[in-house]
Amino acid sequence: MDNHECDEWEQLYRSGDMPWEKGYAAPPLLEWLDLHGPLTGDIIVPGCGYGHDVRAIAARSRNANVVGFDISPTAIAEARRFPKIGNESYQVRDLLDLSNDLYSTFDWAVEHTCFCVLSPEHRCDYVTRVASLLRSDGLLLAIFFLYPWDPGEMPEAGGPPFGVTPDELNRLFGSRFQVIEEIHPKTAYPGRQGKELIRLLRKHQTV
Ligand SMILES: C[S@@+](CC[C@H](N)C(=O)[O-])C[C@H]1O[C@@H](n2cnc3c(N)ncnc32)[C@H](O)[C@@H]1O
Repeated sequence: MDNHECDEWEQLYRSGDMPWEKGYAAPPLLEWLDLHGPLTGDIIVPGCGYGHDVRAIAARSRNANVVGFDISPTAIAEARRFPKIGNESYQVRDLLDLSNDLYSTFDWAVEHTCFCVLSPEHRCDYVTRVASLLRSDGLLLAIFFLYPWDPGEMPEAGGPPFGVTPDELNRLFGSRFQVIEEIHPKTAYPGRQGKELIRLLRKHQTV
């Protein structure tokens, strides 16, 4: 990601222009955790913003090591202001420019509204980076925002957030991940009902 795009996220946080910031964790994530139980091991949450999802995972998995990261220093500073709830921490990082100290370090990656804000030209890179963070056999729990825009409301550039179809997801993730489970969540933030898809993906062992 170039400096201009980094600065844009930082400016949005500094100016308080954050329509995605709801003050609580993503309902589909909570729904999935209620169904399946806590995550375990080392967990990474890219593009975590204020870290509500990070803390929701940490609260249910007291022994898990949950790391949230974001390109915006202001978002990470705000995330760190919340009372510690478990074994969670936050870092300023650019997913598209990761240093290799994080490679093959995590058992789980949790995606929620990071993939959708990257311009489509960066999507293959996203898949490669997230796969590189995971250990062999690692799991990606993803809440994909399929249809962010109502008819007639999509900006000329298409986003962000940029929508995606299940077929596009198959094509993008297929070479690195196998789909283990797919759920249409029953719960959502207001305005997102019926627009999201949960997928649990396992990293191919060969990667
Ligand atoms: C729509 S917000 C969602 C934040 C958080 N997931 C939430 O739901 O509250 C997208 C987030 O991705 C972060 N982001 C964008 N590009 C990124 C990148 N290349 N690496 C890390 N974070 C990035 C932004 O700073 C922003 O916090």
